[in-house]
Amino acid sequence: MSDRIIIFDTTLRDGEQAPGFSMNLQEKIELARQLQRLKVDVIEAGFPISSPGDFESVKAVAQQIEGPQICGLARARNEDIDCCWEAVKDSARPRIHTFIATSDVHVEKKLRKTRQEVKEIAVRAVERAKKYTDNVEFSTEDAARTDWDYICEVIEAAINAGATTINVPDTVGYSNPWEIENLFRYIFENVPNVRKAIISCHCHNDLGLAVANSLATVRAGARQVECTINGIGERAGNASLEEVVMNLKTRREFFGFETSIDTSQIYPASRMLTRFTGVSVQPNKAVVGANAFAHEAGIHQDGVLKERTTYEIMTPESVGWTGQGMVLGKHSGRHAFKARLEELGFCLNEEELEKAFEAFKVLADLKKTVFDEDLIVIVHQQALSGDLDRYILHDLMIEVGKNGPSATVVLRSNGDTFQESGSGDGALDAAFSVIKKMTGLEESVLTNYNCSSVTQGTDAIAQSTISLRYKQKEVVGRGTDTDVVRASVKAFVDAVNRLLMTETREPVKDIV
Ligand code: KIV
Ligand code: ZN
Repeated sequence: MSDRIIIFDTTLRDGEQAPGFSMNLQEKIELARQLQRLKVDVIEAGFPISSPGDFESVKAVAQQIEGPQICGLARARNEDIDCCWEAVKDSARPRIHTFIATSDVHVEKKLRKTRQEVKEIAVRAVERAKKYTDNVEFSTEDAARTDWDYICEVIEAAINAGATTINVPDTVGYSNPWEIENLFRYIFENVPNVRKAIISCHCHNDLGLAVANSLATVRAGARQVECTINGIGERAGNASLEEVVMNLKTRREFFGFETSIDTSQIYPASRMLTRFTGVSVQPNKAVVGANAFAHEAGIHQDGVLKERTTYEIMTPESVGWTGQGMVLGKHSGRHAFKARLEELGFCLNEEELEKAFEAFKVLADLKKTVFDEDLIVIVHQQALSGDLDRYILHDLMIEVGKNGPSATVVLRSNGDTFQESGSGDGALDAAFSVIKKMTGLEESVLTNYNCSSVTQGTDAIAQSTISLRYKQKEVVGRGTDTDVVRASVKAFVDAVNRLLMTETREPVKDIV
């Protein structure tokens, strides 16, 4: 059996479908580029039939990203599989991933079928996908709660029908390392044609065991691990890619497996996702949390200064954590700027570079020190800001007089300028109320607000994230500025733009 573990990233599918993690087309493509730099083997780019937006983004990723296999998800239905193929077919290495639930509770209560019917549907789905491509993955949804003999029967039938990867998900995060390892061993011992396919795991984190369970399946013979950046995904999330990969790498002598991952791209990937979704990782999160490499206790600091390995089992550099070294200042030229962006993994075209450089010069004038983190924000806010700018914050005046705070907001849209004033409980409340009125979103509700500094110092860039709900839609907007109020108002305008542009995703029903 191979000693290489295939890393299947589903950040753009299982991760993105979780509430609060939605991304726009441009962000998805940019994240897919980062996954390419990370050298994942497979990118699951979305669920094409679930919405026109998902279809477009899977298609765009398939057309633009070279290297990894590009996969789309499809229920075991003809329309789903046909639509999935349309979305992935432009990739040099397309994959169709089709699935059906096999646990009794899903089969009887959700699908209202018999086990025999489900097996037949699975076979027909794999055969249909196989007409399009040889690269077909089949998943037995809720496998961890499925009868072991039945699961073996379905897997054998799916492999006979042509599935080249069989994914055995713990859909509800129910299992534990001992049990799931046994389940995988049982599959290897009882499915006669099991060696004709790669067996894969896909573990959810409801009981906090997704990474441990994934590693246990690897010990039992799984050679593909499905995971997401920062562990995002349905409910408590999926197995976190960075934790799975760094376990395999740091304990290479124990596990004995390689992955293709360029681990120095892990931290940039984690940060990019955080910026796009507005959801930070907890400070003590393994591998990518802000404290993951911080040694606070005196004894630890003393030990690390004498010999790093006393308290460090992996280096920050190995996961791409470069710290916040001052890199550029106001005298830095275009050449140094471009070179540093390239080191950070950004390859901008001339026009993007020009926009980013102008923004850098403005920032460098305001700040004495410009850190890598500032540069990354600049690139995302200025050069890659894309088609979202339905409204742009042109000007903002805040007054805190004796009659209470008031705000005057000037917005621009399609070359027109709009101005409106109003009051509120505080400066931000006043500005937000004015913007709601100007954009016809009076009924929208602010559900989350956050503002923090990107780097150190009183002149640091402030980054604000705002969640805004309107009817069934909830979006996250982001804004950055050296002034906290402006950063917050920019985030609010960004959220408004997203609300106006985000389509509503209908829930996808699982009726075959
Ligand atoms: O958790 C799950 O079972 C899934 C499948 C669609 C693979 O996400
Ligand atoms: Zn899942």
